[in-house]
Amino acid sequence: MGSLSIQIIGIVNLVIQMLLLNTAARMDHLPQRIVDMIKKDINGINGRQTQWTADFNYFLYMKKDYILPRVGSNTPPSKLATINEPKVSLEKGKVNKDKPIPESFDARKNWPHCAKVIGNVYDQSYCESNWAVAPAAAFSSRYCIASYENDNQKTFMLSAEDLMTCCDNCKDGGKNSDSCHGGYVDEAWTFINQYGLVTGGIYGSQDSCKPYSIAPCPSSPFGECSEERPRGCQTKCTNHQYSINDYRSDKIYGEKPYYLDNHEDVQRDIMTYGPLTASFRFSDDFPYYKKGIFTHVYGSLEKRYHTAVLIGWGKENGIDYWLAINTWNSSWGEDGTVRIDRTHNNCQFGFFMASVPKVN
Ligand SMILES: *[C@@H]1O[C@H](CO)[C@@H](O)[C@H](O)[C@H]1NC(C)=O
Repeated sequence: MGSLSIQIIGIVNLVIQMLLLNTAARMDHLPQRIVDMIKKDINGINGRQTQWTADFNYFLYMKKDYILPRVGSNTPPSKLATINEPKVSLEKGKVNKDKPIPESFDARKNWPHCAKVIGNVYDQSYCESNWAVAPAAAFSSRYCIASYENDNQKTFMLSAEDLMTCCDNCKDGGKNSDSCHGGYVDEAWTFINQYGLVTGGIYGSQDSCKPYSIAPCPSSPFGECSEERPRGCQTKCTNHQYSINDYRSDKIYGEKPYYLDNHEDVQRDIMTYGPLTASFRFSDDFPYYKKGIFTHVYGSLEKRYHTAVLIGWGKENGIDYWLAINTWNSSWGEDGTVRIDRTHNNCQFGFFMASVPKVN
């Protein structure tokens, strides 16, 4: 138990006391005493190093995230941790080994015609679903790139919801569980290979077959997040407004998925096919990330993993980093993205996985 957990337990007690005493906690503002305690954590991180900056990320202060998951039990914070370690080792990718690797690379800039798809920041809301959201996002980017190279560019997003509702092997909680309790990223890529994904945009979008069904949390602290959960697997479009509205013909498939561990293989794979997913141990300080090059410096490192979309890399002040898009809304981090220390890799950033889209 780090001092962070103890502080969090303190905060939770405070919140409960406040609720009991019916202290007028305005819904759009955090109580000053809580703000002070959070500031202590932030100062703890910022006082310890200058490589990255911690700050308020409002989604962390949702009422539920305080009272339920962040009390140091085994239940991971619903918004935060997600996958388990991959169950299987997948095949190695096949790319040209002689391709020179530039010092920096950003898939959004390398494929400007797909920049919107690649740069789209998702919001998983109050649900441990990034085992699905991240692969769907990476695969959408790969499909945009591949279809452009095939002279028939498609810029739609593919559905995380399809994975969440129809991939029974993916769910950590088992076949009948809802999909908001973590899942296996390798199984998600396998599903994309075997069953494909239909189109699916962000919550409320009208132009796709199975858009994300969970509304984003309100941006004000102590707001209530939606507790709606996706229903069972439907082999038809859930959005009836969608003009194509044909589940079967909407499916896009990937080739057999693969797993990479060598950094140069990863870089060459991204340069050839586009973004892929990367997973890393979730740490107490990660949610506080606002800018800079993240490395774990404060609080504890959890056994659970988090998954993001890896879109590139770079170097700043002599520090090599990975550039990834997170799935916590664009209000988090550097406009929804995070740069992670590539040399001092103390959160085990790795488990790189992908699949090459089938284009016809
Ligand atoms: C990000 O959060 C804001 C505020 O809740 C919301 O309006 C927006 O739709 C969210 N973005 C996504 C991709 O859901």
